[in-house]
Amino acid sequence: SKPLRVGLIGLGTVASGVAQILLRHRDRTRERAGRDVEITRVAVRDLSKSRDVEIPSDILTTDAMSVATAADVDVVIELIGGISPAKELVEAALNHGKDVVTANKALLCEHGDTLFALARETGRCIAFEAAVAGGCPIIAAMSQSMTGNQITSLAAILNGTSNFILTQMLHNDASYDDAVQEAQECGYAEADPSMDVKGTDAAQKLGILTQLAFGERISPDQFPVQGIDELELEDLHFADELGYAVKLLATAKLVNGHLELHTQPTLIRKERPLAQVDGPYNMIEITGDAVGKAWFSAMGAGQMATASAVVADIIDVAVGRAAITFPHLNLWQTEEKFQLQKSE
Ligand code: NDP
Ligand code: HSE
Repeated sequence: SKPLRVGLIGLGTVASGVAQILLRHRDRTRERAGRDVEITRVAVRDLSKSRDVEIPSDILTTDAMSVATAADVDVVIELIGGISPAKELVEAALNHGKDVVTANKALLCEHGDTLFALARETGRCIAFEAAVAGGCPIIAAMSQSMTGNQITSLAAILNGTSNFILTQMLHNDASYDDAVQEAQECGYAEADPSMDVKGTDAAQKLGILTQLAFGERISPDQFPVQGIDELELEDLHFADELGYAVKLLATAKLVNGHLELHTQPTLIRKERPLAQVDGPYNMIEITGDAVGKAWFSAMGAGQMATASAVVADIIDVAVGRAAITFPHLNLWQTEEKFQLQKSE
């Protein structure tokens, strides 16, 4: 059968990892995708930058729109981040009959309604496993394996950078500033790390999970969001001595037909699985009315862990799984079922 032709938009931390997997593991990918997966075009900002993956110069361009609309691209992988031009590129890709894979939680949280409406109109799909919790297959779990439940609550560590910083400060004697810098050097942080440490990134991911769990469109400006940037080392030590870990926790809970959402530093008893998540790892604790409690955990940030999720989405597109899963979820489309409880 015909190869699946991939257009990569971006060749930074995550996209280089995706290219490495696709180029170094062609046979394995072909076997799982049922056909060859070929990178036919790649867009970057700066052609002169040295890269940790070798891409032939004739497929590299700075014209991202030409990749989104190219005749020799079947699936567009948006890995530039931010809202604009990512939104325009995803819209152009869908309008030109391409499926889209993205890791962009900011974009989905803010414009999921418009983008999924366009995907339905054009008969294409948007796969976004990497947008929440990096290498942890939480989107697959919630959109497929957990659908026999009404989820009643989510409690999650969703920002790898913040969790890494807290771990470095408490267990490795790092200062806050050094830990932030190390998170940036490791490729965990957002282009603007204030998105991480102020809780915005975790809140955007909570917005996406809330869409999957409760069918509600909620953005971070509708619930309390606080990050780790005002925590002191003393707070962490004091909590530790009392038997608690401090974690940046994103929570969504259904209480008497009302949804309560928060993203904030939270004291968690050390015995709980969430308290034991260190470094750039994430964990999502889900309570469902049938399954009870379930925990999902993996590296939530970093090149190869996130690339793992993107490549899985590309394979899902290749075998047609993404086209089955996403249109049926009616994402960002449903009427309000639950009222958001305004709380501080
Ligand atoms: P990087 O900053 O490392 O990479 C961004 C890439 O996009 C760069 O290659 C840059 O080009 C390119 N780029 C930016 N703007 C344009 C443009 N207008 N046209 C063409 N290319 C452009 O980001 P990450 O790889 O870290 O993140 C990418 C996405 O993945 C973001 O949405 C992020 O939130 C998400 N994500 C990141 C994770 C991580 O651990 N890093 C984990 C999960 C999700 P150039 O290289 O030339 O500058
Ligand atoms: N900056 C994000 C984090 C990347 O640290 O969790 C993964 O989405």
